[in-house]
Amino acid sequence: MSGAFIVFEGIDGAGKTTVCRAVAEALSGRGLEPVVTAEPTHVGIGAYIRSGAAGEISQMTEALLFSADRNDHTEHIMEWVAEGHVVLCDRYFASTVAYQSAALDGDSTDRDMLIDINRQFIGKPDLTILLDIDPSSGLDRAGARGEAASKFERPDFLAEVRSNYLRLAEEYGFRVVDASGEPGEVLERVMAIVSEVV
Ligand code: TYD
Repeated sequence: MSGAFIVFEGIDGAGKTTVCRAVAEALSGRGLEPVVTAEPTHVGIGAYIRSGAAGEISQMTEALLFSADRNDHTEHIMEWVAEGHVVLCDRYFASTVAYQSAALDGDSTDRDMLIDINRQFIGKPDLTILLDIDPSSGLDRAGARGEAASKFERPDFLAEVRSNYLRLAEEYGFRVVDASGEPGEVLERVMAIVSEVV
């Protein structure tokens, strides 16, 4: 079996993490050994971002940190794929373009720059699935999990992130899946698409 690189994207509360795990379980049931990974990563720069140790930093510095984390992560992803694993990645480059261009006030120069920087090193996913949900439903889900709201979890901000994602989906050919509804239904929609490449 040759490897594959599959990315899950979406606003906070879209259900990426749950879907990633469920897809991994389904693929394991088919005898595959998927690797589940996420950004920000939990090592190196990713762990540094998550720790909050950077303190008050500018939006641009934060964008560069997310990108630097991705640069290191991409090397590992490519190794796993070369070893024949299906890699299921919870967030990748579209997260930086969707969130940080919104955080940087939606200026098109910033958006172009974020794409340019990431273009230098990102791998090309075999498939990117955008789990699309309206921000209020996403926030309700995140809240129901008892998670503390991150600074990005505001309906107006997430509405902008969502529209950035939908634009990227058109430009890069992401597959958009309606992420509202029962988890089982969403998983069924996602697995139908995953089965086209795995
Ligand atoms: P998230 O997927 O929610 O991680 P976890 O569920 O493990 O805590 O990501 C944390 C936040 O980071 C989320 O609000 C989106 C944000 N983020 C960006 O703004 N840009 C990026 O490039 C990435 C990878 C994440």
